[in-house]
Amino acid sequence: MTSTADGDGEKSTFRWLDAARYAVAAAVTVLIMAVIVNAIKLSIAGGAVSAAPLKTPPPEEALAVELNLRAHNPSGRVRLYYLNITVYLFDKSTPASASLDPGFDSVINFEPHDIAVLQQETVDNLLAIKPKRNSVGAPYFDVLYNGSRVSDMTLRLDGNLITEVTSEFNKSRPASYYCEQLLVGGNPDDEAIKDRQDVICKQGRGLN
Ligand SMILES: *[C@@H]1O[C@H](CO)[C@@H](O)[C@H](O)[C@H]1NC(C)=O
Ligand SMILES: *[C@@H]1O[C@H](CO)[C@@H](O)[C@H](O)[C@H]1NC(C)=O
Ligand SMILES: *[C@@H]1O[C@H](CO)[C@@H](O)[C@H](O)[C@H]1NC(C)=O
Repeated sequence: MTSTADGDGEKSTFRWLDAARYAVAAAVTVLIMAVIVNAIKLSIAGGAVSAAPLKTPPPEEALAVELNLRAHNPSGRVRLYYLNITVYLFDKSTPASASLDPGFDSVINFEPHDIAVLQQETVDNLLAIKPKRNSVGAPYFDVLYNGSRVSDMTLRLDGNLITEVTSEFNKSRPASYYCEQLLVGGNPDDEAIKDRQDVICKQGRGLN
C-alpha cells in the first residue's frame, strides 16, 4: 500500500488509539496496585466470645457460642468481600499463626457466612454456633459448660479477600487474621464482658 496522505492519517489515528489504550491499561494497573493495599479491617466487638450452656433436654449437651465480628471497609472506591472463611479458636498454649493444621490444633472451628462490605461501611456480623461436646477440644467443653471463662484466647480467620476493582474485575487473595487476647465464656450480657474494649484483628503476614 502506497503512502498517501489518507493512509498516514489512518496510521496516526491508530497510533493515537494505541497510546490511549496504553494509557487506560496503565491507569488500570495503577488502580489495581492502589487497591492491593485495601483490606477489610476486622475486630471483635467487646473483645469477647460468649459461650454458655445451651438449654437442651439431657442427655444432649451443647454450648451457645456467639461473637460479633465487625468488618470495616476503609476504601472509598472499592467494595470488599471476605469469602470462604474458616474461624478457629486457639488457646494460649497453641500458636495460632504457626499451626499448619488449625482444624486439629484449635479448640473450636466453624465456617461463617461470607462478608461483603461496601465502600467506607462497617458491618456487624453476629456469628453464632452451637457446638456439642465432641466438636470442642478437651477440656474446654466442660470448662465453658460449667460457666468458667478462659482468657487470652485467639481467633484465627482464614479466607479469601476479594477486591472488586471494577464492576467487571475482582481481585482475590488468601488472607488470615488473628484476633488476640479474647475472653471466652459466659453470657453476652455478663458484667465481666460488658466494658471490654474491641479487639482489633491483625492481618497475617506471609499469606497474602
Ligand atoms: C475454601 O476453603 C477451603 C478450606 O480452607 C479450601 O480447601 C477451598 O479450596 C476454598 N475454596 C475456594 C473456592 O477458595
Ligand atoms: C464441670 O461440672 C461437672 C459436673 O458438675 C464436673 O463433673 C466436671 O468435672 C466440671 N468440669 C470442670 C472442668 O470444672
Ligand atoms: C466479585 O465477587 C463477589 C463475591 O463473590 C461477587 O458478588 C461479585 O459479583 C464479583 N464481581 C465480579 C465483577 O465478578
